[in-house]
Amino acid sequence: MSASATSNPKPGRPFWVGTSWKMNGLPDDARRYAERIAAVDDWHGIRPFVMPPFTVLADVARLLHGSAVQVGGQNMHWDESGSWTGEISAPMLRQCGATMVELGHSERRRHFGETDETVNWKIHAALRHGLTPLVCIGETQAERDGNVADLILARQVRLALHGLTAAQAGRVMFAYEPVWAIGEAGRPAPPELVAQAAAGIRQELDRAAGAPGVSPPLLYGGSVNLENAAPYAALADIDGLFVGRAAWTAEGYATLARTASRTLAAPRPEP
Ligand code: 13P
Repeated sequence: MSASATSNPKPGRPFWVGTSWKMNGLPDDARRYAERIAAVDDWHGIRPFVMPPFTVLADVARLLHGSAVQVGGQNMHWDESGSWTGEISAPMLRQCGATMVELGHSERRRHFGETDETVNWKIHAALRHGLTPLVCIGETQAERDGNVADLILARQVRLALHGLTAAQAGRVMFAYEPVWAIGEAGRPAPPELVAQAAAGIRQELDRAAGAPGVSPPLLYGGSVNLENAAPYAALADIDGLFVGRAAWTAEGYATLARTASRTLAAPRPEP
């Protein structure tokens, strides 16, 4: 191995660090957060994004306009307008300044009846309107215990990408988030388990994209924090980190992004 080799086993592929604020962020806090990360002048090669609640999305997008940080919604409807009380459409997100949208998070699948089919409709709608969908997939503890985690992940990927051309599939992003690793009750997943699951997901993505190396980015999420970010970031099939609680302060988020960039730049130990 050459002396200049780094821990980044995927040179040339962008590395993303993003956060969903979930149901957090009153206007004053949201503005302070956005102002702080708008002031970061060098992300050291990281592609940053934040997904605030709808109520502050336009404000956050305005404050981050012209910065490197992309802004996304946490959900949207598949239709453009109409009698869908309480819903938000892709054109509405675009008008607010969003360029991305998170779809199919396990909290939405579990509590709000989101299915692989509706996620697929939403992906089509997002692409039609120029939004980059970030699709969350992941198995439950029961599915892992029952030895069907790989099957579940393959099913989620295939149904998400159903009906898309290879070029369209290449514009979708994925986040592998084991359901049992997310949130207060979550247990951080061992990096070896993430590596194994991500390799299987990558095979599915390569197949959908029609060729290896051009397949959609695959992020990892679920109890990511300062202690475990580096081992996840170093995994060959992982193109980014999707963070909840540990990035709910601007400082926490910026520090995580720095940790990821240092991991990717660090010299790789000789085998
Ligand atoms: P936590 O990092 O809080 O576990 O949340 C992860 C997540 O759900 C990101 O979408």
